[in-house]
Amino acid sequence: MDALARAEALTAYAAETADCARCPLSETRTRVVFGAGDPDADLMIVGEAPGFQEDQGGTPFAGQAGEVLGRLLAGIGLQRDDVYVANVLKCRPPQNRDPLEFEIASCEPHLFRQVELVRPGVVVTLGNFATKLLSGRPSGITQVHGHEQEVALGATTVVLFPLYDPAAALYTPSMLQALEDDFSRLPALLGRASPPLSVPARAVEIEVTAPPVEDEAVAVGETIQLGLF
Ligand code: URA
Repeated sequence: MDALARAEALTAYAAETADCARCPLSETRTRVVFGAGDPDADLMIVGEAPGFQEDQGGTPFAGQAGEVLGRLLAGIGLQRDDVYVANVLKCRPPQNRDPLEFEIASCEPHLFRQVELVRPGVVVTLGNFATKLLSGRPSGITQVHGHEQEVALGATTVVLFPLYDPAAALYTPSMLQALEDDFSRLPALLGRASPPLSVPARAVEIEVTAPPVEDEAVAVGETIQLGLF
């Protein structure tokens, strides 16, 4: 699927998800906060769940944590529109309590579909819930922040880069410093991970003008196909 078709599929999926009732959070939310940003982004950022402001406005990371995220992105020359931002849960838990296991299980097909359609090279997970879900491992964010790992998410292999949640870092200067330090490594990771590892092979045709020495499989003048990744 090319980028335009994936973007259209993402828009259609967002519309389908707008009246999701897979778990009881549908009864307390104001709206589904699906995700926002570049549908063909190299970098996807995954947080925990919408809070009050996100639930009201429909955009992830709209409040104070979003301001921190915006500053961190600006520090590496990116804007919000250059990345795709989503959450593990698409609906706000009452009083911003932690997501429950069955809520995460109900909601995860939405996130996996988003990853599949955006096809980022790097996925930054913010905090414990996003990190544990997408890494498939129980290690907490304190141990794994700033340590990239390659993971297969459905058909897409991405570089997963766990970071502290800016919402938690707001009140803990040492955490904010660690978040800034980790974030500064992102440009190098993006350079390494791009293009996405799951991009299907494309073939180009070339005319053979001089076959490799002793290669009898091709002849001069013949047209052969080479795979491009
Ligand atoms: N924190 C999150 O994890 N997600 C949001 O959308 C806002 C704050």
